Amino acid sequence: MGYRDVYTAAQADPETFWMDAAKAIDWVTPPTRALNPDKAPLFEWFTDAEVNTCWNAVDRHVEAGHGDRAAIIYDSPVTDTQTTTTFADLQAQTASLAGALAAKGVTKGDRVIIYMSMVPEALVAMLACARIGAIHSVVFGGFAAHELAVRIDDAKPKAIIATSCGIEPGRIVEYKPLLDAALDMADFKPDFTIVFQREQAVGTLTEGRDFDWNEIQNGVAPAYCVPVSGDHPAYILYTSGTTGQPKGVVRPTAGHLVALNWTMKNIYNVDPGDVYWAASDVGWVVGHSYICYAPLIHGNTTVVFEGKPVGTPDAGTFWRVIQDHNVKVLFTAPTAFRAIKRMDPKGEMVADYDISSLRTLFLAGERADPDTIEWAEKTLNVPVIDHWWQTETGYAIAANPIGIEHLPVKIGSPSVAMPGWDVQILDEAGHPLPPGDLGAIVVKLPLPPGTLPTLWNAADRFHKSYLNHFPGYYETGDAGYIDADGYLYIMARTDDVINVAGHRLSTGGMEEVLAGHPDVAECAVIGVTDELKGQLPVGFLCTNSGTTRTDAEIVADCIKRVRDNIGPVAAFKLACVVPRLPKTRSGKILRGTMVKIADAQDFKMPATIDDPTILDEIKVALQGIGYAKD
Ligand code: COA
Ligand code: AMP
Repeated sequence: MGYRDVYTAAQADPETFWMDAAKAIDWVTPPTRALNPDKAPLFEWFTDAEVNTCWNAVDRHVEAGHGDRAAIIYDSPVTDTQTTTTFADLQAQTASLAGALAAKGVTKGDRVIIYMSMVPEALVAMLACARIGAIHSVVFGGFAAHELAVRIDDAKPKAIIATSCGIEPGRIVEYKPLLDAALDMADFKPDFTIVFQREQAVGTLTEGRDFDWNEIQNGVAPAYCVPVSGDHPAYILYTSGTTGQPKGVVRPTAGHLVALNWTMKNIYNVDPGDVYWAASDVGWVVGHSYICYAPLIHGNTTVVFEGKPVGTPDAGTFWRVIQDHNVKVLFTAPTAFRAIKRMDPKGEMVADYDISSLRTLFLAGERADPDTIEWAEKTLNVPVIDHWWQTETGYAIAANPIGIEHLPVKIGSPSVAMPGWDVQILDEAGHPLPPGDLGAIVVKLPLPPGTLPTLWNAADRFHKSYLNHFPGYYETGDAGYIDADGYLYIMARTDDVINVAGHRLSTGGMEEVLAGHPDVAECAVIGVTDELKGQLPVGFLCTNSGTTRTDAEIVADCIKRVRDNIGPVAAFKLACVVPRLPKTRSGKILRGTMVKIADAQDFKMPATIDDPTILDEIKVALQGIGYAKD
């Protein structure tokens, strides 16, 4: 069957389609039905099943005789380390850590925050939680203590598992002091922490609260896999919304297992035993789905890479990893390839390595620009597949499903809707738009299995963010169009979310931090186009009259403030002081117009603008920091 047949079959009879896909999972109690519409418009899947994720990702492969197969290859150019963890090792390690968690009272439904750098133990921690039905919430290491504290207060974890440090090129980032600061800041106090000590910076443990990773496992009984119901939350992953309060995306257990497993063959075209490498971080959804869960559930070997595409040590690192570990599929964000291309424009370093194992490159996380796609195709001589998804969905909404049929590639499009996804384009009033017309990208409910059923502790926000604007549809927050052949084009976000090096960030969250500065009366943050990172945040500050501080001092303070509050990942390094912000007569800041000025694009003077001369002031300020060039 080709793509069109599979898609049509899934749309016509989703029950049969997903019950068939569910056969690839080991159930404790198999589902009797796929979709549960009882709480519509909140849809759930496989709710009457019982299952364990860790069993499916680890134990069942050992049971099937594949205990000696590599589950995780750890390749860390920043520590000069390469190790292999077999499925049997992984089973022993997760059972032991899960045993330690259970011995300290962590049980089904308890939350555990994981704040770890890119080491195999991060996967062990995630899987150990899954083993006993605890709900993990991984927090990216590039976030500051305050962001960690916000997540502690929201998730109310019984325990936190952390590494003592992370390693960035040229510097060690000590996580333990950040964890201590977050624990001080948070109102909620977890019972205990477990620290995986790395020799590059050993953390100081607080007696009675902090436990060493190895010591806490001494003498504990290994834990067995605890069955959970199909709708049990596998994890919570916080992602940026329009405000500084992140949204806790809930991932349901059974749908996650079924859908991720389905994608491995049908989208990525890998078979059990193949080596699959997602060059991302466990702190992001790509890391959850395609560093940890999907490859392991499907019986693939996953690569945990601790390094950067450039500078660790050079722009040939990706090719070396492909060669050393026989990587068949590489998945990363376009920004990684832009970084490599900048260092090695002709792609000459590929010739130093044997990358013949590589079959396909997949890109996601941000718009894949045609130049980058063409460069990657030419350099690697393999198909380059753009695909589109979000933290909320957990896997691709649109892709080129090469395991079913390699469709013609249209550069600039992540191709077509995947089976189970009824993607449509609507105008502001909710009317369907014809092919080629730009509008809001929505998905007709129900969303397929594995997608978010709600937001943690925020059911109202779930309705408000995703369901209320277009009743009967899930609002993706992206704008774009579908062409006459059904190919989708993702053009922009419809909200205040920006995408910096594939990292999703909230300009609203940054504005909240800037507004807290005593000399800032009003502010705005926009995302301007950046050749390497796709977008970069730029802050506009209106200062209080009577301040004794210089503009330069206030700008420097504000940059530090965002780094200290949100973290280095915000990449907030550009700000300027302006006398006023451009607004509509009703007081709405004209951020879209400011972006156009910064990117030196033509724009139409907004009819509702209060005072057009303010735009000239904005242009001058932007020129002062290297943007809005004539
Ligand atoms: N812990 C602590 N700090 C971290 C961190 C972590 N896990 N990850 C990143 N940071 C810091 C970086 O050191 C950097 O700090 P700096 O301002 O002091 O230099 C800042 O956060 C921004 O990091 P990053 O976005 O990684 O930018 P970079 O300039 O270091 O590297 C790229 C640029 C393009 C090479 C890099 O973004 C990259 O490899 N991207 C790949 C794509 C990717 O991972 N996408 C994720 C979603 S798929
Ligand atoms: P995240 O939740 O961090 O994965 O970010 C999701 C957002 O990243 C989407 O809503 C898009 O705005 C953007 N995005 C992800 N993949 C793509 C893609 N292939 N093309 C364009 N934008 C993308």
